[in-house]
Amino acid sequence: MSRFHEPQHPDFARMNTSIGFDRRLWPQDIVQSRAHAAMLASRGIISDEDRDTLLRGLEEVQRELEQGHFVFSPDDEDVHMAIERHLTELVGAVGGRLHTARSRNDQVATDLVMYTCARARDAQQATARLMAALLERAEQHLDWPMPGYTHLQRAQPVYLSHHLLAYFWMLARDRERFAFAERQCSRLPLGAGALAGVNFDTDREMVARELGFAEPAPNSIDAVSNRDFALDYLSAASTCATHLSRLGAELVLWSSVEFGFCELPDAWSAGSSIMPQKKNPDAAELLRAKAPRVVAHLSGLHGVMHALPLTYNKDLQEDKEHLFDAVDTLELALAAAHGMVSGVSFDRERLEQAAGDELIAATDVADLLVRRGMPFREAHGVVAALVRTAVDSGRRLSDLTPEELAAQSELLDDEYYKVLAREHWLESKVSMGGTALPRVREQLQSARTVLEQAPGH
Ligand code: ARG
Repeated sequence: MSRFHEPQHPDFARMNTSIGFDRRLWPQDIVQSRAHAAMLASRGIISDEDRDTLLRGLEEVQRELEQGHFVFSPDDEDVHMAIERHLTELVGAVGGRLHTARSRNDQVATDLVMYTCARARDAQQATARLMAALLERAEQHLDWPMPGYTHLQRAQPVYLSHHLLAYFWMLARDRERFAFAERQCSRLPLGAGALAGVNFDTDREMVARELGFAEPAPNSIDAVSNRDFALDYLSAASTCATHLSRLGAELVLWSSVEFGFCELPDAWSAGSSIMPQKKNPDAAELLRAKAPRVVAHLSGLHGVMHALPLTYNKDLQEDKEHLFDAVDTLELALAAAHGMVSGVSFDRERLEQAAGDELIAATDVADLLVRRGMPFREAHGVVAALVRTAVDSGRRLSDLTPEELAAQSELLDDEYYKVLAREHWLESKVSMGGTALPRVREQLQSARTVLEQAPGH
């Protein structure tokens, strides 16, 4: 029997169905159903015999799903109905007892929070794997000079290790954000019923324990409405994907002939269909472009949640594709970043040559004047004049004569030429977190410690 006189319009059915995408929640749905059935029996709400029948049926459903034999029917609106429908086909009317003291509202919230928790954990592992690769590459390129950039103009030389470690710290913060998202998944929605609780004295703590939650969610209304954990995952994923987009952008630039700083591994490069000589950095380019897609999903879910009256509304079904596509996109991006970071080979000579542009040491000359008592602003002006003189006459800073130096400031003596000697540039950046080798070694040490620590502590 149904309360309706007319069947669903086929277009409404298509709009309303979520089986096309929520079927990926089946592992969570089965596990939660198992815990729910056990709890119902422990409270005498169903008999032990019915529980055993349900558990046996669920096992068969699980086997079929695992082996890909499960046949979805065109009438299965979502994964929850598909599993219950087939369970009932397998074990008969007892199958209908599984939904006692449960609503699809607390059921779907539970599946989704379990799924998000697992993906937040995966993301912490994947970020840690990338951090480890960056650390290893930094150790291998400890003292390789390269230009550091601002405005994509050569600014000051740094060591390649230092530059790679910058990404390490970005990823370390990402890992903490995923740990935060994981903690937001620690309260069990199941037991909230449709919204108000259920008419049975259920044991939510037992279910929480069974499913690995810290505790039951304290408010049934909030429990079925809450998708904060998905927003938290998406937020962490957005920032992480944005970090990877910056890495991708640098790999694209660096692997160009113009820079020539690195060569990407073949496994992460593509050929051209028309120009046989080309090796294109497609994976690095995609790292750039995948990030806004993840960010759009964060914004999309904010849109779904915005001004949504409590409690469950069908709008909430639209949470899933945002989350799922972001998960898939981020997992791929992290794998690609790991592949490229692990396999990229750097060209020491090109890096050093680019870092050897003497103009890059202009700040060091200014600092020499500062050490001799000149205010920094004034020193900046003096060096700018020296740079202009050199550039206008097609010479290097070290080609300027002592007379030309004296014309700008009597504080400039032979020390000027020492400061311009290459070895000096990097090793003078002695401040904590700077590029001088002892500081980079310190940084490597704390990076190793952070990598070994559990995130968020
Ligand atoms: N497919 C639905 C979703 O993803 C399941 C919950 C349906 N609940 C309901 N009262 N219609 O949100």
